[in-house]
Amino acid sequence: MATSKETVEVLLTESRVFMPPKELVECSNVKRWMEAHGIRDLDELLKRGEDLEWFWGEVAKEFVEFYSPYKKVLEWNPPHAKWFVGAQYNIVHDALDKHQNTWRRNKVAYIYEGEPGEVEKLTYRELYIEVCKLANALKSLGVKKGDRVGLYLPMIPQLPIAMLACAKIGAIHSVVFSGFSAMALAERMADAEAKVIITCDSFYRRGSKIPLKSQVDEALKMAPSIEKCIVYKRTGDQIPWDEKRDLWWHEIVKDQPKFCETERMDANDILYLLYTSGTTGRPKGVIHCHGGYAVGTTMTLSWVFDLKDEDIWWCTADIGWVTGHSYVVYAPLILGATSILYEGAPDWPEPDRWWDIIERHGVTVFYTSPTAIRMHMRFGERWAQKHDLSSLRLLGSVGEPINPEAWIWFYRHIGGERCPIMDTWWQTETGSFIISPLPITPLKPGSATKPLPGFSAEVFDEYGKPVVNAGGNLVLLTPWPSMLMGLYKAEERYRSTYWEKYPNVYLAGDIARKDSDGYFWIQGRADDIIKVAGHRIGNAEIESACVSHPAVAEAVAIGKPHPIKGESIVVFVVLKEGVKESEDLRKDIRLHVRKEIGPVAQPDEVWFVDALPKTRSGKIMRRVVRAKILGMPVGDISTLSNPEAIDELTKAR
Ligand code: WTA
Repeated sequence: MATSKETVEVLLTESRVFMPPKELVECSNVKRWMEAHGIRDLDELLKRGEDLEWFWGEVAKEFVEFYSPYKKVLEWNPPHAKWFVGAQYNIVHDALDKHQNTWRRNKVAYIYEGEPGEVEKLTYRELYIEVCKLANALKSLGVKKGDRVGLYLPMIPQLPIAMLACAKIGAIHSVVFSGFSAMALAERMADAEAKVIITCDSFYRRGSKIPLKSQVDEALKMAPSIEKCIVYKRTGDQIPWDEKRDLWWHEIVKDQPKFCETERMDANDILYLLYTSGTTGRPKGVIHCHGGYAVGTTMTLSWVFDLKDEDIWWCTADIGWVTGHSYVVYAPLILGATSILYEGAPDWPEPDRWWDIIERHGVTVFYTSPTAIRMHMRFGERWAQKHDLSSLRLLGSVGEPINPEAWIWFYRHIGGERCPIMDTWWQTETGSFIISPLPITPLKPGSATKPLPGFSAEVFDEYGKPVVNAGGNLVLLTPWPSMLMGLYKAEERYRSTYWEKYPNVYLAGDIARKDSDGYFWIQGRADDIIKVAGHRIGNAEIESACVSHPAVAEAVAIGKPHPIKGESIVVFVVLKEGVKESEDLRKDIRLHVRKEIGPVAQPDEVWFVDALPKTRSGKIMRRVVRAKILGMPVGDISTLSNPEAIDELTKAR
């Protein structure tokens, strides 16, 4: 039989089980916790985790210090939960303040490496001082508890410093990924009604300087709530300046005291808003609070990645996304870990930049995305082989399903077949890992394994019945401490998006399969969200960007499987009357979307058609377009008013 070697390998690897190394299990944080609580094995731990109040109460004792005790672990009034009800708390107490009284104040919190190569080490003491100074400066500008502050910064230490400074004084930060465009920034700032924005002149990426301040200037024309713009000098580039509005970071912190009292918040007060794509054109502001978020993120990091004081932790995610918020900033700081912060591109100046960083700084635990792994796979393992990666002891993956080939490559060539891979499934909304292995869990490549203790996930059919060995909707059955507390100024959308399909059950929006061993296999999004290189982009967002181009009348955007990025963006557009199709116009539409949303959303393909398939009520049938382009059955098209438009799609390409 003519079967290629690759297919055989896929088949073999999918059924393989990797047992965790014995010494890892024996010394793991989770094992220690189990022993302290008289728990014998993983099954018993999962069982004990079903008693949410007991379990999370015990966990909280270990990881956080409330200013005043809570009255109740959980108050669940679906679809709203409150955790650690009645406690006074501020996450900055755990992330920074408490370390100042221990030996940890002189431990390195961040090893920062700029793309040009400079390395800077910031201890917990130094970080604390920087945060206090900026917090005092924000106060002097009139920023108060509950005010929103926009942060538009790259991967430099000033981003965590700014987040912590906001949180310290009880202000709410809203970080916007520095790869987003001025338009996307403006939309988010306007929705959050931010008072102040913090940015930098420009930063380094692939050897060039990427301007940020000029983007902010453009955005602020559309975000009238912003009164002040604080600018950190990163590259020293010449930038436009508005004397009345703009302030240099170094000038406003210069004479500030090195101490700033941390605001005592309610555990359920808002820590941050983070905008993420949904199924409509407008991104939604996911709300996370101080208390539960601190407990959920810290326990999951400690148990899943087993961080110890000697570890050097590197989560490569940009802080502009939730992974960076939870696992580059808050949880590692609460654990008192040392983290790597790297400004630049993974393959700059050569494809071995990451492996070089791991070797030079002795990284022990490394967490990245399937897209990045596939990109390095394409460069080839020779780049990793040039470096001594023996410091690594655990690996991790997040953001999209990891295909078994990429899993095996990562395991073999980066982890030297010693390091288990923690494939963590979670979302902006969940705040922390939900389905993930622990170091004691046998692994199946391509599966995120089982819900962690204290979490409860299922796969439901359309009627809300659990299904095994069949695709269905991934749902979460019980509340969890780091869950979103709502959507900013959008209660109805919160209820209808997550809690309506199955009453009082959280609908994740992913399709998954649970196998006979209870392992979960995530198959991708069920709704209209595309995952490009792990970045979450709504089809509707791309479409509305397309139709804002003067030549475009209608548009539909779909995601198409891509060997490296997971998915790529394909757009079909109907041009306005009298507009001529041309190569230049195609290019222009791609650039227009890039300008409207950001480089991550730039379509890979733009095709011209005379009509798009529509229902009789005039709704574009995205599902039909997608099926046709992917060569799948188009399904029920009885509601279609113009079936001939379907064939046009394939002709256009
Ligand atoms: C996807 C990122 C498969 C999923 C933390 C989810 C994953 C969406 C995994 C959330 C994983 C995340 N395996 N798919 N390990 N992790 N996803 O909000 O579709 O940017 O719903 O949060 O990413 O994306 P978000």
